[in-house]
Amino acid sequence: MDPVNTEENDQKTDSNDDHLPALIQNDVLKERLQDWDELEKDFLQLELDHEQYKKKLDEVKSLQKKCLEGIAHQRYNMKKITDALQSVRNPSTHEQGAISSLQGKILKRKTAFRDFEDHLPHTNGLYLSIILGQVNISLLNKEDKYLYKQDYERFKLTLSYIILAFSLVLVLTNYIASLSSLRFADSVLHFLLVWYYCTLTIREQILIVNGSRIKGWWLLHHFVSTACSAITLIWPDGYSYREFRTQYGWFILYVAFVQVLQYYYQKGCLYRLKCLGQRHDMDITVEGFMSWMFKGLAFLLPFLFIAYLFQLYNAVVLFMLSRDPQCTEWQVLVLSVIHLVLFAGNMSTTLRVIRQKLSDDLKKKMKFLKHKYRFSNSKPKQI
Ligand code: COA
Repeated sequence: MDPVNTEENDQKTDSNDDHLPALIQNDVLKERLQDWDELEKDFLQLELDHEQYKKKLDEVKSLQKKCLEGIAHQRYNMKKITDALQSVRNPSTHEQGAISSLQGKILKRKTAFRDFEDHLPHTNGLYLSIILGQVNISLLNKEDKYLYKQDYERFKLTLSYIILAFSLVLVLTNYIASLSSLRFADSVLHFLLVWYYCTLTIREQILIVNGSRIKGWWLLHHFVSTACSAITLIWPDGYSYREFRTQYGWFILYVAFVQVLQYYYQKGCLYRLKCLGQRHDMDITVEGFMSWMFKGLAFLLPFLFIAYLFQLYNAVVLFMLSRDPQCTEWQVLVLSVIHLVLFAGNMSTTLRVIRQKLSDDLKKKMKFLKHKYRFSNSKPKQI
């Protein structure tokens, strides 16, 4: 349609509209026209508000840029100061005092920057840039971060229950049905696992961008688990698959069960961290949090170690199977290596986590963690 003509038509319609009320007799129509006039007034105000909103958004963007540049500038100069302090040779007692005091100030400033950054946008890492592009996934306040983390844990719980129920049915029916008829159902479970671990990797990257302290191994663990499930999915139905099938079914079931236990531990920690952040109704202390965490860990760790030993056992059984003359599939040896890697990574990381938690460092870290979910308003909204 010609735009000039459209404009002319609009103007004509407007001028016709001005004479309309006088000509209209119908009461209902008259009322509706009056309603429309009211709406017009509201719309003008809405237009003004929207203009103001756009202006404020631009202001916020330029303020964000200014703050990010300011932090980068401060960090750069602080690094130069730290390097210079380290190069001071044989300082006197007074000089040593000045150096310690400056180092203390620098440490405080670093904590302040972390707090500032909680409210500033972050750049996506390589993985997220490839998957999502440069869409902004920064959560700009602690309440949103808390809710996203809670949602991530709930997602894991729901999928763990589904996987648990599915694998239980498959393991039990294995004892009563012919194996070949179940391969299709197995594939559905393996596909579900591929999708689940893949989704976890994306959600975890978003958590990391927003300040989560998830250890690198757990991220890698979910990438490796995706590969593990994908390889199992394409493992042809044959002698080796049938030999390993029941054991693997029990393993999936057990891991899903442990993940349900992990959920209750993580949920407890998250809830207590939130309570620690509440300024007014402090019904939990740092000591209370730590004591609960150690009790939770003491309960969870035996189940985790059994899962790791199960992984080692899987690796050994798969390795033996790969040496069987009847086994022709490459998947068997590769899966054996993957289970061994998962065992080694899980075991060493969990032991490292325990050592860290038992060291004095934790008390120092708690100072920072106390503010992790301190919302600006004292009463966070509930989900
Ligand atoms: N997956 C995802 N996130 C994890 C995680 C995991 N396995 N383990 C810890 N995190 C997160 C925590 O929620 C916390 O996040 P936050 O910074 O957003 O608050 C952060 O990493 C730091 O946690 P940390 O203090 O190091 O450990 P924790 O006390 O939360 O948990 C374990 C310790 C050992 C209980 C936990 O790592 C775990 O359950 N590991 C076993 C996982 C596993 O092996 N699964 C497969 C076999 S069953």
